[in-house]
Amino acid sequence: MDLLIKNGTIVTAKESYKADVAVNDGKIVAIGSNLDFDADKVVDAGGKLVLPGAIDVHTHLAMPFGGTVSADSYLAGTRAAACGGVTTVFDYPVQHSGETIMGLINSKKEVLEKEACVDYAFHCCITDLNGGEILDEMETAVKEGITSFKCFFVYKKEHMMVDDATFVRLLLRAKELGAKINLHAENPDLIDMRTEQFLKEGKTSAWYHYLSRPEFVEAEADKRAVHWATHLDAPLYIVHMADKEGLEECIKAKTEGHELYIETCPQYLEFTCDVYKREDGRNFVCSPPMKGKESQDALWTAIKSGMIDTVATDHCPFQSYEKDWGKDDFTKIPNGCAGIENLYPYMLDAANSGKISFERAVELCSTNPAKIFGCDNKGSIEIGKDADIVIYDKEKDFTISVNNMHSDCDHTIWEGKKLHGYPVQTYLRGSLVYDNGDFVGTPGNGKYVKRSTSK
Ligand code: URP
Ligand code: ZN
Ligand code: ZN
Ligand code: ZN
Repeated sequence: MDLLIKNGTIVTAKESYKADVAVNDGKIVAIGSNLDFDADKVVDAGGKLVLPGAIDVHTHLAMPFGGTVSADSYLAGTRAAACGGVTTVFDYPVQHSGETIMGLINSKKEVLEKEACVDYAFHCCITDLNGGEILDEMETAVKEGITSFKCFFVYKKEHMMVDDATFVRLLLRAKELGAKINLHAENPDLIDMRTEQFLKEGKTSAWYHYLSRPEFVEAEADKRAVHWATHLDAPLYIVHMADKEGLEECIKAKTEGHELYIETCPQYLEFTCDVYKREDGRNFVCSPPMKGKESQDALWTAIKSGMIDTVATDHCPFQSYEKDWGKDDFTKIPNGCAGIENLYPYMLDAANSGKISFERAVELCSTNPAKIFGCDNKGSIEIGKDADIVIYDKEKDFTISVNNMHSDCDHTIWEGKKLHGYPVQTYLRGSLVYDNGDFVGTPGNGKYVKRSTSK
């Protein structure tokens, strides 16, 4: 055996129990009490939890966006991931007009082969069908393990937005291929109209970023998307859900039996739109923006009831000087925040304080992401799965600060957040990549995860 983790409490989406875990060749090969193998390395996890590594299914690494490039390279982003107990990262490369899916994905793979500190997969953002060629190419992409594609209803200026017909074509094609469409739902025309009005009135602070796209602007787009997906009987995954009304529409469709998935992010669970009134409000600017308390409460209710399927980060950091471009004009603030290292510790802290169970935290951050997106070897501490393992100390206190994060970003919206309980070790396919505060992995050791379809 390569590794034997003894005396810990294993947590799966279904149960928690005391057992040892044996790892060989990167896989979990035995689970049981008092396992007695010879192993190269024996770890005593007595008093600690043994969890599957988290799967962050929503990140934007080294992404050209908002007049710059997001601040974490593939190396920095996946290093930070490892240190937060994330062992698989999904990136969102953006296909632009004239580009092919596989041309884009292969260029990203080349970088990740050298830089990835954890395993990685791609959802491909489609912005232009190239006269229909992309619909054909989606079949090849699916065979290569790219089994989900993303549409933006917003970001006209960035040439990322798709029109309604394109969205519907993609929904239908994905359904045919057993793939999924992920959607960023907000109404672009309303955002433009309200933005123009605020700028004319000299209302330029970060607070007006929120008011340019408040609750009903997201809700309208959620409803429109759910309407089509349900009528066309096509699966739909809504990313970074942040508003109550849209959430309720999704829950209704799910309850009626439609294949609809809901993702939210830690920032919507922790912060409300009040952060945009702060002096440093621009650092919190992301889209959709944080919403009011009512929406936040509804998100927590759906987290507890099982109606939200996944929690992921939308990690898309920008440096302070870039956020400062929008000091006097919220439209110049690059949209996005850091979070990849905070996802699992934050959700596990919610479990540790009794808000949700540890099983539910594991389900939201690892098991469901693996199931929904076809990572068949990941998402649980089970025999035969990859040995992506986090050892978690329920008693370790941790205060988030830019100084103890492993991202390249020079600030964090989570500064000062106190957590009770924290990961102490992360193993990627049996290799230690994070040890008590330090990244100890090797860039390039992360592997591409070829995903399956739902067919
Ligand atoms: O503000 C955000 N969320 N930036 C990243 C791009 C996106 O919309 O997911
Ligand atoms: Zn988005
Ligand atoms: Zn209808
Ligand atoms: Zn995003």
